[in-house]
Amino acid sequence: MQQRETSMARAAERAIDSPDLKSHSDLALRIGPYDYELQLKHGEAMLTVSDGIGSTIKDLEWAVGDGLFGQTYVYQEHGKFYESQLSFYSRINGLATTTGHMEPHTLETAAGGLTSSDMIRQCFGCHFTTATTNHGFDPEHAITGITCEACHGPGEKHVQQKSGPKQAVEDKRQLIMNPAALKPADSVDFCGACHRTAADAVLSGLAGKGLIDVRLQPYRLEKSKCWGEGDARLTCIACHDPHVQLVTDAGSYDAKCLSCHAAAASSSSSRRISSCKVGTRDCANCHMPKIEVPGTYTTFTDHWIRIVRPGDAYPD
Ligand code: HEC
Ligand code: HEC
Ligand code: HEC
Ligand code: HEC
Ligand code: HEC
Ligand code: HEC
Repeated sequence: MQQRETSMARAAERAIDSPDLKSHSDLALRIGPYDYELQLKHGEAMLTVSDGIGSTIKDLEWAVGDGLFGQTYVYQEHGKFYESQLSFYSRINGLATTTGHMEPHTLETAAGGLTSSDMIRQCFGCHFTTATTNHGFDPEHAITGITCEACHGPGEKHVQQKSGPKQAVEDKRQLIMNPAALKPADSVDFCGACHRTAADAVLSGLAGKGLIDVRLQPYRLEKSKCWGEGDARLTCIACHDPHVQLVTDAGSYDAKCLSCHAAAASSSSSRRISSCKVGTRDCANCHMPKIEVPGTYTTFTDHWIRIVRPGDAYPD
């Protein structure tokens, strides 16, 4: 099934199963006084850090992120969770400091940062399915990645048996949660459960903190003049089908823009809306620019749809 191939479905995995680690079974790097070695050996993903005096070894348990641009590792010690100080980045085809991590001053912090219990639950909540059940937080039994259940709630079995239109109608009724029925703002917040809602952007303090807030698509999208009071033609699912991999050809999104911005003359209802004098295709290339965020080794698409003029500062 296609969904299984998506980045969301592969949002986490056991570190020993990580294709990035399998294809780079012997990663090494030196940063400051610390020598790092990341090896897949004897069925374990082992991180060794040494500073010339001593060394420490961590058994990496999970790889978080499908590695499309990056992948961070999580390990446990004495019942506590740590996020690896180094991540794998595809663009550099190797290791570098995890986005947002500080410079370490001890061997232990050079290996990884202690992650609060709240943060680790959230981390598993966004990258795994059913990490928290009625029995509490249970990462060992969590399903890695985002499966049907993460978005549709329990009842996955009914949905999976889909076979033909009649069954699809039946499925629709049996979906415990059918996100298609949501109002535009609620629909965006639905995806925002993990992609972060506009409210989350403010609460987390990331809103208006410069380039980093480009990662909060719901927040950026709702700043667009296009968004207005919310419109079903501009929800996340208007442009993205969460069951298939992200479409990277800009032209495929044109019809979405034109559903509102069609030439003013073409119909009376669209008379109040502007059209472009500059371009007729690949609208997103000019109006949803790709923003390079320092420390992420990638670019993100700015979902604040707008006129971008050369030399303009990034608007917060
Ligand atoms: C349970 C959490 C969760 C929910 C709900 C969720 N996402 Fe995601 N989504 C993620 C995570 C985590 C990633 C990053 C996966 C990765 O690259 O490791 C992601 C990645 C994506 C990507 C990028 C894929 C790529 O190839 O780079 C798109 C597009 C996307 N999500 C759309 C949506 C839409 C649309 C919705 C709402 C219908 C949604 N998501 C709801 C967690 C979620
Ligand atoms: C509120 C939900 C949320 C939490 C909490 C969260 N993530 Fe994510 N993460 C996402 C989404 C959504 C994406 C995709 C969009 C983006 O990169 O901003 C993502 C992307 C990533 C990526 C890049 C994946 C790629 O496509 O290459 C990595 C690595 C990652 N997260 C690691 C972590 C780790 C490690 C934690 C916890 C210690 C964590 N995340 C916590 C939602 C979350
Ligand atoms: C990231 C969230 C997400 C995941 C994961 C997800 N879905 Fe959905 N699903 C949605 C949304 C949102 C809709 C409504 C989409 C629409 O109407 O365009 C939907 C609609 C559906 C529908 C109804 C389609 C229709 O035409 O009404 C079915 C059936 C379905 N999903 C099955 C699945 C199955 C099976 C899986 C797992 C293989 C899955 N979904 C995984 C978000 C998700
Ligand atoms: C739901 C309808 C809708 C959709 C879909 C939509 N827009 Fe808009 N857009 C508007 C409205 C309404 C305005 C504000 C009034 C105007 O400028 O006509 C606007 C304004 C704009 C502006 C002017 C912004 C400014 O700062 O002055 C640009 C540029 C734009 N849209 C481009 C796009 C592009 C590109 C897409 C597709 C990626 C898109 N829009 C999708 C409704 C929409
Ligand atoms: C008007 C169309 C449109 C809407 C609405 C939209 N997106 Fe996107 N999105 C795009 C385009 C275009 C890309 C870039 C695709 C490419 O070239 O890689 C993109 C890329 C992404 C990515 C990949 C990471 C990145 O930044 O490039 C994620 C994740 C994502 N969108 C999530 C969302 C979420 C969540 C929502 C709802 C808040 C949403 N999108 C609404 C058009 C849209
Ligand atoms: C080559 C880059 C480029 C492409 C491609 C492009 N635009 Fe534009 N667009 C611009 C620029 C630059 C402006 C500002 C023009 C001005 O007022 O100086 C603009 C203006 C607009 C406006 C505001 C017009 C007004 O009168 O306020 C809208 C709406 C718009 N574009 C929509 C679109 C749509 C929809 C598409 C795709 C069919 C598209 N654009 C393709 C560069 C582009």
